[in-house]
Amino acid sequence: MSEKTSCLLRVCALLLLLFGQSLQGPPSFSVDYKDDCFRKDGQRFRYISGSIHYSRIPRVYWKDRLLKMYMAGLNTIQTYIPWNYHEKYPGQYNFSGDRDVEYFLKLAQDIGLLVILRPGPYICGEWDMGGLPAWLLSKKDIVLRSSDPDYIAAVDKWMGKFLPMMKPYLYQNGGPIITVQVENEYGSYFACDYNYMRHLTKLFRSHLGDEVVLFTTDGAGLNFLKCGSIQGLYATVDFGPGSNITAAFEAQRHVEPHGPLVNSEFYTGWLDHWGSRHSVVSSAYVAKSLNQILSTGANVNMYMFIGGSNFGYWNGANSPYAAQPTSYDYDAPLSEAGDLTEKYFAIQEVIKMYRKIPQGPVLPSTPKYAYSTVTMKKLQTVSDALEKLSYSGPVKSIYPQTFIDLNQSLGFVLYRTTLPVNCSSATPLSSPLNGVHDRAYVSVDGVAVGILERNKAITVNVTGKAGSQVDILVENMGRINYGRGINDFKGLVSNLTLGKELLVGWTMYSLSIDEAVGQGLLWETTSTQTQPPQSASLSLPTFYGGSFTIPDGIPYLPEDTYVKLPNWKKGQIWINGFNLGRYWPDRGPQVTLFVPANILSTDAPNNVTVLELEGASCNSQPCTVEFTTTPILNATVQPEYEQHRRLSAKEDLL
Ligand SMILES: *[C@@H]1O[C@H](CO)[C@@H](O)[C@H](O)[C@H]1NC(C)=O
Ligand SMILES: *[C@@H]1O[C@H](CO)[C@@H](O)[C@H](O)[C@H]1NC(C)=O
Ligand SMILES: *[C@@H]1O[C@H](CO)[C@@H](O)[C@H](O)[C@H]1NC(C)=O
Ligand SMILES: *[C@@H]1O[C@H](CO)[C@@H](O)[C@H](O)[C@H]1NC(C)=O
Ligand SMILES: *[C@@H]1O[C@H](CO)[C@@H](O)[C@H](O)[C@H]1NC(C)=O
Ligand SMILES: *[C@@H]1O[C@H](CO)[C@@H](O)[C@H](O)[C@H]1NC(C)=O
Ligand SMILES: *[C@@H]1O[C@H](CO)[C@@H](O)[C@H](O)[C@H]1NC(C)=O
Ligand SMILES: *[C@@H]1O[C@H](CO)[C@@H](O)[C@H](O)[C@H]1NC(C)=O
Repeated sequence: MSEKTSCLLRVCALLLLLFGQSLQGPPSFSVDYKDDCFRKDGQRFRYISGSIHYSRIPRVYWKDRLLKMYMAGLNTIQTYIPWNYHEKYPGQYNFSGDRDVEYFLKLAQDIGLLVILRPGPYICGEWDMGGLPAWLLSKKDIVLRSSDPDYIAAVDKWMGKFLPMMKPYLYQNGGPIITVQVENEYGSYFACDYNYMRHLTKLFRSHLGDEVVLFTTDGAGLNFLKCGSIQGLYATVDFGPGSNITAAFEAQRHVEPHGPLVNSEFYTGWLDHWGSRHSVVSSAYVAKSLNQILSTGANVNMYMFIGGSNFGYWNGANSPYAAQPTSYDYDAPLSEAGDLTEKYFAIQEVIKMYRKIPQGPVLPSTPKYAYSTVTMKKLQTVSDALEKLSYSGPVKSIYPQTFIDLNQSLGFVLYRTTLPVNCSSATPLSSPLNGVHDRAYVSVDGVAVGILERNKAITVNVTGKAGSQVDILVENMGRINYGRGINDFKGLVSNLTLGKELLVGWTMYSLSIDEAVGQGLLWETTSTQTQPPQSASLSLPTFYGGSFTIPDGIPYLPEDTYVKLPNWKKGQIWINGFNLGRYWPDRGPQVTLFVPANILSTDAPNNVTVLELEGASCNSQPCTVEFTTTPILNATVQPEYEQHRRLSAKEDLL
């Protein structure tokens, strides 16, 4: 080969390389208003997506769940970003461990899944306060989700931190994120503040650039789209299997005459509330409706594809106050524990008709193991353990303060005062303005006397001498996440009365129970104080502890499991310091809590700590907690607690 030809060849090769690259171009994702579709790298594209919330799944299981979603035939996932999960106190950010959203995005991309990002700031999602940080309420009259300057300042600061982190993960920058949602179902909120939505649009654009597809999601009705959709953001709708698909997409078309049809939340199941029946939606019903949606050529995201768990205190609530349980199973195609269900395969069958799905076996469900029953020993009461639980020490004030006044968001606060008068006969201790948010365990001189509960019980009768100590442990059962009620203050949010007198002179203990449990402080000494006898049905809020070892010689252990608390009433349970969530078998429908294997140890005894709020009925025999391989999420609910109306659509929650 002459030097000349070789040189020519090299020039050709270079030209080819340049030409080839420009043909392919940089990655792009856009809305095509002419052909009514999305375009990915210039090609017509339709997503079939599923929702997964990393905040409800331990990090070690993210890959397993994402792979299962990929194998079902999804090409995309959708996730919410709960702001309050990442910014616990103003300016204190956490993106590590289970909160490492960047790692989650990388995993999705490695597996071959695209991502629809829903950073809020408000997310709803059956998550405490719809993802808004409770510390926003330190301005008492703040109008959340509006142009309120204090709200906007906090949003700007948070998004100024978070959105730049996401920029490298946008599709056009080589990442998996194809679209980004602004706000969430804003048209269902009373404020209808277009300036707020315009502000968010500018904010998102300024951090993410002009190219990314920004969108909104609203209920599929003109009444929702009126305040929810805004110029510059692509409007999409959400609706479940019971809906009239034609009518639903007509609503979208009303505001977006051209562009892709999108159902951003197609409900595969539904949420639960304590005291209401477990929601189930049949696979056949979901599959049939999914098929109809896909046959129109629409894009769809299944909400949820896997629900997971509200570990700790993260569940939300609806209004009139009804808290959601720990499990967020949602009757989704992958169970709370990531198990394959009949619905998973029914959906996979439908997807198969529309796109080539990956070949090969689906990862199996994770096996479960029933560890031995744990005998629980009484450790100490909350009142006895106050010094360990409240290192900041008490705050004193004439009238009661709320959690936020006390710089606490979640969990429990102990309110203490004394009886101002002799109550020789039963005297009503009341919250006349229904200001116990949400449940309070009342004792007088160390004897449990009753429970106050938001909307349900505003009075307990007490007896005692003037000067007797009144302890009221108030539980935050989860902030309202939907509607007007999201400014959901916790604690004693109004005054209590005793007979005709106002109770004053409060000492309030902000409780760091999780820290104390994590450090094993409650196990150090067991209570030596003799307690006054309690009634048969109610005792003081008390910690219990017990441990179990994982049997030797079984190489595949530890495995996942479910824990149940048969004779217990209501409380919180930790294993090795990990807060599994709330249990309330007394009210149902959830009876078992998911225990992921990653919190268990084979090297040391596993420590179970329980805070029982009402009294375990195991006075004659020792109290135990039990492990089981089968979840129970649908136990019979006592009729008195059954909600009068059964909620099955967003409209019903208004
Ligand atoms: C951040 O979150 C991770 C995961 O939940 C947790 O392990 C860690 O302790 C948190 N860090 C701080 C400083 O709170
Ligand atoms: C569904 O909605 C379309 C358009 O509004 C209407 O023509 C049709 O009758 C509806 N179908 C049913 C079954 O209600
Ligand atoms: C609230 O508590 C956190 C954590 O202890 C602390 O960093 C913060 O400064 C406190 N805020 C106020 C207003 O006291
Ligand atoms: C309460 O009753 C005791 C006697 O049982 C009496 O000595 C005391 O003065 C009374 N206190 C008040 C505040 O009424
Ligand atoms: C309190 O006592 C009064 C009088 O004995 C009784 O009528 C009322 O039902 C009691 N209230 C509660 C909540 O127990
Ligand atoms: C309690 O009552 C006092 C006196 O009427 C009032 O000033 C105060 O705001 C009330 N506190 C709450 C939390 O309602
Ligand atoms: C359980 O607590 C004991 C005593 O504090 C400790 O030695 C052990 O390491 C703990 N187990 C685990 C798995 O953390
Ligand atoms: C609860 O769910 C299980 C498993 O799906 C089912 O066998 C059982 O019949 C259900 N029980 C009730 C009361 O619905």
